[in-house]
Amino acid sequence: MEEAGREKDRSVVVVVEDLGTASKDTVNPSAKSTRRYPLLSWTTILALIALVGVYIFSVSLKQNGMLLGLKQTDMIEKEREKLCQDPSIPVTEIPYVHYPTPDTYSRKECACTPVRFFAILSMQRSGSGWIETLLNSHENISSNGEIFSIKERRSNITSITKTLDKLYNLDWLSSAAKNECTAAVGLKWMLNQGLVQHHEEVVEYFNRRGVSAIFLLRRNTLQRYVSVLANAHDSKAKQINGTHKSHVHSEREAQILAQFKPEIDTKKLIADLKKFDKLAADALLYFKKTRHIILYYEDVVSNDTKLMDVLDFLRLPKRKLSSRHVKIHTKLLRDHIDNWAEVNSTLMGTQYESFLNG
Ligand SMILES: *[C@@H]1O[C@H](CO)[C@@H](O)[C@H](O)[C@H]1NC(C)=O
Ligand SMILES: *[C@@H]1O[C@H](CO)[C@@H](O)[C@H](O)[C@H]1NC(C)=O
Ligand SMILES: *[C@@H]1O[C@H](CO)[C@@H](O)[C@H](O)[C@H]1NC(C)=O
Ligand SMILES: *[C@@H]1O[C@H](CO)[C@@H](O)[C@H](O)[C@H]1NC(C)=O
Ligand SMILES: *[C@@H]1O[C@H](CO)[C@@H](O)[C@H](O)[C@H]1NC(C)=O
Repeated sequence: MEEAGREKDRSVVVVVEDLGTASKDTVNPSAKSTRRYPLLSWTTILALIALVGVYIFSVSLKQNGMLLGLKQTDMIEKEREKLCQDPSIPVTEIPYVHYPTPDTYSRKECACTPVRFFAILSMQRSGSGWIETLLNSHENISSNGEIFSIKERRSNITSITKTLDKLYNLDWLSSAAKNECTAAVGLKWMLNQGLVQHHEEVVEYFNRRGVSAIFLLRRNTLQRYVSVLANAHDSKAKQINGTHKSHVHSEREAQILAQFKPEIDTKKLIADLKKFDKLAADALLYFKKTRHIILYYEDVVSNDTKLMDVLDFLRLPKRKLSSRHVKIHTKLLRDHIDNWAEVNSTLMGTQYESFLNG
């Protein structure tokens, strides 16, 4: 848009120059002719000057019109940016720094605390619930859960954009709201919740509004498969005192849920694993031109420092992060799958063989 604006400015200059020479051309020979048609030539010149004036005015009106309409939110943000200017923020970071003005309350002493927008992009049963609680234990992070699990919010791009606007304006009221100054606000968003489906518009939104993507994927998708099946089973069986739990907070609850060993349909296993791969690969490809970081669940489990990379990525001060979540499936896969022998022979010799050792 800026580029187009500059283009127009240039064309105005050209017109003015053209007119300059043109009027010179007509004025010079008319040194004589002025006497013959003095009124006419002066009227012509005045009319031309007036035309140029109208043209310049209309161009600037058009630009301001665009600013006032389409880019209104950006302009409000720019205004606040001026008020809150922080010279320690590098120029390259400015697109990712925001100063939201919520409709529902005043940020008061936090008004000039810069806010980063993020989205945890993941798949069900990939540890995003756990990672989100860890991030939310940071006093300055507010991650608002799986907002797009509600169908209406993702039914079309208008609805998605409206939801994101509200979230990033700090108007999303959830348990993740902070008393401290929020310096990073986001959500977790599953790839199959309209994200890949509307990827073009979402990437455009992320780039326009400076949203940083945190990919959270699982290397061993067979483990994820077991978790998906076990969770689906519990949603019906409600094994913990008659309530379904997707996440647990005690060893005892984890043990109860891990007792169930799913049987895997080996006829569709490889096709399903390929489907998971493709979904993740597509998403990475679509979002490669956004600001992003890629995390693997397995790495976060085995290496505490991985989450510090995320804090770095969000430009937040390092803190010890904590979560009450307790891992459910802690044994080897062979102890969590009912028809292990069959699964083993299905995957032996395939690209997924290494998953068997998980
Ligand atoms: C988008 O979805 C919302 C919520 O489901 C609906 O109210 C709205 O009419 C839809 N808009 C369009 C343009 O389809
Ligand atoms: C985090 O919140 C505290 C308490 O509100 C605030 O003083 C601090 O500036 C915030 N940190 C960042 C990085 O915004
Ligand atoms: C189930 O409920 C009983 C009785 O209220 C309680 O003692 C027990 O700890 C509960 N079990 C779990 C796993 O939460
Ligand atoms: C743990 O993660 C950090 C940050 O990504 C990395 O630098 C380090 O090499 C990792 N350590 C191990 C043992 O993999
Ligand atoms: C899978 O089966 C083969 C024999 O068919 C066996 O050698 C291997 O140990 C099994 N792998 C696991 C992880 O159980």
